[in-house]
Amino acid sequence: MGGDSLKAYDVPERVRTYDIDMDVMHPLRHKMIEIILDIVPFNQEAALKVMDLGAGTGIFSARVLEKFPNARVTAVDGAEAMVDIAADRLGPLANRLNWVIADFRRLPAETVIADSYDLVISSYALHHLSTGEKLALLKQVVCALKMGGWFLNADIVVAEDESIEQRMQQLRVAGVMSRASAGDQRFAGVESTRAYLSQLQIAENDQPQTAATDLKIIRDAGLPAAEIFWKELNEVVTGGPRLVDR
Ligand SMILES: C[S@@+](CC[C@H](N)C(=O)[O-])C[C@H]1O[C@@H](n2cnc3c(N)ncnc32)[C@H](O)[C@@H]1O
Repeated sequence: MGGDSLKAYDVPERVRTYDIDMDVMHPLRHKMIEIILDIVPFNQEAALKVMDLGAGTGIFSARVLEKFPNARVTAVDGAEAMVDIAADRLGPLANRLNWVIADFRRLPAETVIADSYDLVISSYALHHLSTGEKLALLKQVVCALKMGGWFLNADIVVAEDESIEQRMQQLRVAGVMSRASAGDQRFAGVESTRAYLSQLQIAENDQPQTAATDLKIIRDAGLPAAEIFWKELNEVVTGGPRLVDR
């Protein structure tokens, strides 16, 4: 049985090294965030209203606030330990951000007021949800988007074919080992790296879907123009606009 994604992230000792560990395990996170910022079609001076789902230590929110100096971000996360670390990263940017400490499977009604957001973003958070939970959340997201607003997501996926998935995992393990610092026993060999990644996946209740399933969920939620904008091995950028009535 899987763990609880929120309990797994609400542990101060674990999240202290979260960003360093992410750079070892998911170095493309920075690139994916920049790709999303390039896709966003809004004027840089616009007073955008943005929601970051599973904002964690604030990496994505901070970049949005840097790029769009008049934007305001509602950052949603259920783990206070992650949010505590975000304060250091955000500094004065925090003046344009408000935290909602909540489980995004049960978003407070005042956080998802209809037609209120220009942009809803997420990075590495929605794979903690089952397909049903993701669809339910994204339906709420679509309602909360203004016409012409965008949802964009950076996340992990699995391959359609089991043998391809196994090869991707081999590449992932090799990549993690090559980036880990020499003294990091977790990633000292193939077996220990595999064991650490598997244990993390169980503890965090990871439930990544295929890219095709994720795309279908986004389209079914009410964004029929959604696309896979970028994909490298098992990491993808997906999303699309809430179409303006023509
Ligand atoms: C891998 S971290 C990603 C954080 C950040 N977006 C990033 O790119 O570094 C996943 C985040 O999602 C949050 N999370 C997981 N399940 C959640 C849920 N059901 N409701 C709210 N937050 C959740 C965790 O607390 C954690 O901060």
